[in-house]
Amino acid sequence: MENFVAYNPVKLHFGANVINTLGATVKNYGNRVLLTYGKGSVKTYGYYNQVIDQLEKTGLEVFEYSGIKPNPVIEDVEKATLLGRENNIDVIVALGGGSVIDSSKVIALSIATGENGWDFMTWKLQPQKAIPIITVLTIAATGTEMNAAAVVQNHLTGEKIGYVNELMFPKHSFLDPAFTLTVPRNITAYGIVDLIAHAMEAFFGEGEPSVTDQITIEIIKDAIFWGPQLLDDLTNVDLRAIIMLDATLALNGLTNYGKKSGDWGVHSLGHELSLLFDTPHGASLSIVYPAWLKLQKDRIPERIIKLGKGLFGVNNVDDTIKKVEEFFRKLGSPVCMSEIDVNIERKTDIINQYSKNKVSGMHHTLTNRDHKMLVDFMFS
Ligand code: NZQ
Ligand code: ZN
Repeated sequence: MENFVAYNPVKLHFGANVINTLGATVKNYGNRVLLTYGKGSVKTYGYYNQVIDQLEKTGLEVFEYSGIKPNPVIEDVEKATLLGRENNIDVIVALGGGSVIDSSKVIALSIATGENGWDFMTWKLQPQKAIPIITVLTIAATGTEMNAAAVVQNHLTGEKIGYVNELMFPKHSFLDPAFTLTVPRNITAYGIVDLIAHAMEAFFGEGEPSVTDQITIEIIKDAIFWGPQLLDDLTNVDLRAIIMLDATLALNGLTNYGKKSGDWGVHSLGHELSLLFDTPHGASLSIVYPAWLKLQKDRIPERIIKLGKGLFGVNNVDDTIKKVEEFFRKLGSPVCMSEIDVNIERKTDIINQYSKNKVSGMHHTLTNRDHKMLVDFMFS
C-alpha cells in the first residue's frame, strides 16, 4: 500500500429535481453570476431555462458566456475571463459537460487573479485564489464535476494539457440524470468509454491496493453491464442515473486510494489526437487503449490478466485485450484511426506530435520507439 492523501470538498447534489435548490445555493457565494455554457444544446433542450429561472428568481444578476466548444480552447477561457473581470463576477455557474466545466475552472482562477489561465496550466505561475464555481452537469463522462482537474487546448503552442489544482474543485455540483436524457447515442458511448478509461488509468497507475483494485474493477463492470442497455434505451432515466454515478466515481479520487498515482499515458496520447483531428475525447481513448494494452502486454502481463479476470473472467492477456476492444466496438466507439477518417499518411505527423510533446504515462513511461509502435497498432 502506498502513502496517500485523500481530499474532496465538492458538495454533490444528485437526483431528480436537485436543480430546485440551485438559486439559493449560488446566492451564498454572491450576487453577480457568470453563467457559462456550450454551443447551444442547453437552450435546445430547456436546461438553460431551468437554470436561468433559478438564478433570476433568487434575484441574482446573470452575465453569460456561451459557445465553448468540445475539446475547449484557451481563447474562450481568455474571452470569458475578460467578461468576468469587467463585470466584477462573484461566482461562476457552469452548465454543460467537461468542456464547459473545465474551461470555467480555469476562468475561475483567471478572474480572481487577473492572470492568463494558460500560465497557470503550464506552471509558469501559481494561482493563490479562485472565484467559486458551481456546476450543473449535462453529460456523464469526465468526472470533472467532482474533481480539481481541467483540460484545455492551445493551438498556438500545439498542446492539449490537463491541470490539477485544489482551487478548482467546484463548491457544489448539481447532477440530475434527466439533464442527460438528450445526449445523443455516440456522445453517450464516448462518455461510457471515458469513465472506463479513467478507472483503467487508475488501475494501471503506481500501487496495487487490494480494495481499491476491487472498487475500480466494479466501477468498470457496472459500466460494461449497464452501458449497452443505456445505448438501447437512451431516454431511460434510471439507466442515465447509473452511468452518471459511475462516471463521477471513476474520477473523484476514490480509485486512487492507496496508490501513488494513476498512469494517464493513454489520456495523454488521446489528447494529441483530439488536438490534431478534433477527435471527441472518448473516441480518442477507445482507439488508444487497445493499442496501449498491446504495447504493454509483455511488460505487465499479470496486471492486464488481473483486469481481464475481474471484468470478463478470462485468463490471459490476449483475450483481455480482445474483450476490451470488442466492448468499445459494441458501444459504437472507434477502435482504429481509419474509423475517424484519418489517412495512414498521417502516421508520421502523429508520431512527431507524440515525440515533440514527450507524451508519456506517469507510471509506465513511453519512449519514441513506443510512440511508433503505438501508432502502428492504432492503424492496424
Ligand atoms: O456544446 P453543446 O451544444 O452543449 O453540445 C455538447 C457537445 O457537443 C453536447 N452535450 C452536452 N450535454 C448535452 C449535449 N447534447 C445534448 N444533450 C445534453 N444534455 O455534448 C458534446 C460534448 O460535450 P463535452 O463537454 O465536450 O463532453 P465531455 O463531458 O465528454 O467533455 C470532454 C472534455 O473534457 C475533458 C476532455 O479532454 C474534453 O476536452 N476531460 C476532462 C477531465 C477532467 N476535468 O477531469 C478528465 C477527462 O479525462 C477529460 O480529459
Ligand atoms: Zn477522460
